[in-house]
This record gives sequence, structure tokens and C-alpha cells, in this order.
Amino acid sequence: MKETVKNIPTVRLASGEEIPAIGLGTFGSDKYTAEQVGDAVYGAVCCGYRMLDCASVYQNEDRIGNVLERLFQDGVAAREDLFITGKVWNDMHGEGQVIASCRKSLEDLRISSFDLYLVHWPFPNYHAPGCSGDSRNPDSRPFRTEEFMQVWRQCEQLVEMGLTRYIGMSNMTIPKLEAVLPLCNVKPAALELECHPGFQQPELFDYALAHHIQPIGYCPLGSPSRPERDRTAEDVADTAMPEIVRIAKRHNVHPALICLKWAVQRGVIPIPFSVKEPQYISNLKAVTEDPLTDEEMECIRLADKNCRLVKGQVFLWEGANGWEDLWDTDGRIAGS
Ligand SMILES: NC(=O)c1ccc[n+]([C@@H]2O[C@H](COP(=O)([O-])OP(=O)(O)OC[C@H]3O[C@@H](n4cnc5c(N)ncnc54)[C@H](OP(=O)(O)O)[C@@H]3O)[C@@H](O)[C@H]2O)c1
Repeated sequence: MKETVKNIPTVRLASGEEIPAIGLGTFGSDKYTAEQVGDAVYGAVCCGYRMLDCASVYQNEDRIGNVLERLFQDGVAAREDLFITGKVWNDMHGEGQVIASCRKSLEDLRISSFDLYLVHWPFPNYHAPGCSGDSRNPDSRPFRTEEFMQVWRQCEQLVEMGLTRYIGMSNMTIPKLEAVLPLCNVKPAALELECHPGFQQPELFDYALAHHIQPIGYCPLGSPSRPERDRTAEDVADTAMPEIVRIAKRHNVHPALICLKWAVQRGVIPIPFSVKEPQYISNLKAVTEDPLTDEEMECIRLADKNCRLVKGQVFLWEGANGWEDLWDTDGRIAGS
């Protein structure tokens, strides 16, 4: 009999609905197979996870759909117990394509609607799954508000059509949000952003909260298994940061669990990935017990290294200066 974790904390969306304060990531990082990720989803829901972060580009939705069907048949959970997120990939931004992509994902996952559907990246720049870090697509171009809004209007239609309950954005910056939020008929319920102790994005986090948008933190453990294309020599390993290691020793847990406690207590929904049962169970359990003190929270806040891991360089366009352009680091939308 698997251990079931109880009393999982929740967060309240702007709509008033309470959703789980932690979810399971499903990106195998080009390292774990769809079968392994599917098995982890089965085990994770059995032990109490109720939120799943999916995406068509992870190339495992069909396998996860198979698992969801089994979970429902076996009575482990009902569809309405789960909060399932999907994402449209960059090569499906054209007219009608967002809706087609959402339908395909729903079909693969064997569900009739998403709880949350995200625009994975705010531009149509495509790279093939598993490509190398220096590959470039000659069709890549900078963000354009009109182009993004064409995608967002389709997301709004998805809500009208009952294909998702909420819509949201991912990999945005404050200048891009400033450009698009006034134009949205349906406001984003959530914003997925890279977030871990070594890369806390305090301005974007505060901006999201001020606009009643729930932050969801990806790579919450610093993504130790991330693909080669997302690695550079300067990267900081969160679980080796002295502050995290010291606090972990005090709580007698793995440093990864300190990253998760910190995220949940800060108000970010972390979506840690693991296919290893002891890891995903301890990740869930960590946010239900033995919280960090105010002093520990402050110590981690001060330890921010502003070290982005997913730089996104494969999405760069001709003429771009470098990956910083994807993130509008000088406060303006780069290239437009
Ligand atoms: N919106 C976006 O653009 C975007 C981008 C990236 C990711 N995401 C989402 O965010 C999710 C999480 O990000 P991620 O998978 O890159 O990174 P992550 O969750 O920070 O790191 C996952 C890795 O951490 C290790 N780990 C997990 N639990 C552990 C524990 N208790 N103790 C020690 N090590 C542990 C595992 O490494 P080993 O495999 O070595 O055991 C695992 O593969 C993804 O799966 C995906 O759903 C979204």
C-alpha cells in the first residue's frame, strides 16, 4: 500500500477557487521516457498529487492519457479531483492552430477539458525537441503584440468552448505583460515562470501578484537533470547553495525539499519533476510539514543569484544580441 500524503496546502486563484499549492512536472528533460513519466504520474496521483503540469512538446501526453484512464478506472481519483495544465507549443500559434493543438492534447490525455491552458512561449519561434543549444531557426522573430494577441484570442475562445476553465501565460516579462494585459478580454489566471532560490524573479513575481495572476514556478529545484542545451559553466546549483544546505541540515532533509518549502511559503506553486517514487513522495510531504521560519525565508530571499537556467537561446532570431533579448532585461521589448 502506497503512502498517501494528506493536508496538501492550497492557493486561491483570483476567481476564488482553491487549487493545490504544488504540482508534478512532466517534462522528461530528454532523459526520461514517456513510459517512465507516465508511471510517475500514476504513482504520484496515488500518493496524493492533484495537479499535473503537461505540455504537447513533452511528447508524452498520449502515455499520460493512458495512465489517467487507469487512475479513473481504478478509482484512485476522479477527473474533477485533478487540476490539469496543458500548453500550446510555439509551432501552433497560427489561426485555428491553438484550438487544434488543444483538442489534440485533450484527445491524447483522454480528458474533455483542461483546468488551465498556457501559451508556452510568447512567440512562434520553433525548435525541434532534443535540438542542440546552438541550433537556430531562420524563421524566428522577436515578440510582436499583435501576433501574441492572435494566440490569446484563440485561448479566450477555448474558454468559451469549454475546452479549458482558465488560461494563462508562460515565459513572459513585465514589458510584454504591460503590452498585452490591457488587451485581454479574459485575464490570465496564472503565469508560469522559472523560479528557484538561485533565480527568484522578485519583480515579475510581485507584478503577477499585483495583477491577481497566480505564479507557477518551473525548475523549482534548479532542474539538475535539464538538457545539455540549457547548461552553462556559470550556472548555480540550487541544492548546493550554502544557505540551502545549511537550512536543510537544520531540518534534517535533502536541500531539494527546502527549495519546495520556500516556494510554497512564498506563494509560488512549484511543479517539481521526478520519476523516482521516494523523491516525488518526499517532495509532496515536505510542503505539508515542518515549515521554514521567517528568518530562514529571509535568508533564502537574500541568497538570490539572479541565475536563469532556461535561457531559451534556441529561440533567438537573426540580429538578436544574445539570450538576454528574450527576457527584455533592459526594460523594453527587445527587437520590436
Ligand atoms: N513553462 C516552461 O517553459 C517550462 C520550462 C521547464 C520546465 N517546466 C515544467 O516544470 C517542471 C519542473 O522543472 P524541471 O523538471 O526542469 O526541474 P526540477 O523539477 O527543478 O528538477 C527535477 C529533477 O530534480 C531531481 N529531484 C526531484 N526531486 C528530488 C528530491 N526530492 N531530491 C533530490 N533530487 C530531486 C531529479 O533529478 P534526477 O532525475 O537526477 O533524479 C529530477 O529530475 C517540468 O517537468 C515541466 O513540467 C516548464
